[in-house]
Amino acid sequence: VINQPIGVFDSGIGGLSVVKEIQRLLPHEEILYFGDTERVPYGEKSPETIQRFSSQIAELLLSRGVKALVVACHTASAFALDQIQASFPVPAIGVISCGVAACAKVNSVAHIGVIGTRATIRSNLYQLLLRKQLPQVKVTAAPCPLFVPLAEEGYWEREASHLIARDYLTPLKEAGVDTLLLGCTHYPLLRPLIQQAMGPEVRLVDSATATAQSLLLLLDQGDLRKRSGEGAINCIVSDNPDRFRTVGSLFLGRPIEQIELCSASSRANEKEHIAAH
Ligand code: DGL
Repeated sequence: VINQPIGVFDSGIGGLSVVKEIQRLLPHEEILYFGDTERVPYGEKSPETIQRFSSQIAELLLSRGVKALVVACHTASAFALDQIQASFPVPAIGVISCGVAACAKVNSVAHIGVIGTRATIRSNLYQLLLRKQLPQVKVTAAPCPLFVPLAEEGYWEREASHLIARDYLTPLKEAGVDTLLLGCTHYPLLRPLIQQAMGPEVRLVDSATATAQSLLLLLDQGDLRKRSGEGAINCIVSDNPDRFRTVGSLFLGRPIEQIELCSASSRANEKEHIAAH
């Protein structure tokens, strides 16, 4: 089992920022990454759709023999992690509780802002978990839907992005937020710009590092950690591998070689089709 890969998934490319941290902390592991590039973005979809897509992907990764699952998408994590933990036979973690844990480690926090996709913020999960973990702390949440396409377009330092960031973040800044949780896979790419809009004294927290740390603990608990050999990453995407190669390499900070094209939905449809006959 130790030599089996770790399954990581996201609605698209953004989850590679989590992979980057996993590779840093667990360099011997093999990673099987699924990016649902055919159906991204999840951030504007309904809870039912997000749950259905997430289960299909978990099933696909399980069929490829993964030993653990990491839900690297905040939106999928908000709506589908419980269901995945309950219905699949491997340990699974998600970025949301890891982001909350990362906030709990920051000193002297009085007011946390959390930003994410519309669906993530609407799920209220970040707000609930933060209030539970840090009852003394004030929490203010705001969706920033345009950050995802800006990050994908490489608009990391453009004037237009600064304007949008100021528009989204000025209310949080004026409300007195001292710590801002980046509750979306794409936002770490816009870090300098977000920092500028919030001002230098506001601390930015993202969940990628905390997720890699929880994964390490999870693997150790199950005696699943690979401690030797060279690590690798294999990627599966549901559409447009060429775009994934180009933008994904930017996210990962190194070239991506192995990319397979495979839809998660066609497998599920196939199953339903077989079941219907
Ligand atoms: N991966 C998503 C998230 O972290 C952002 C992109 C999307 O909306 O699908 O919430």
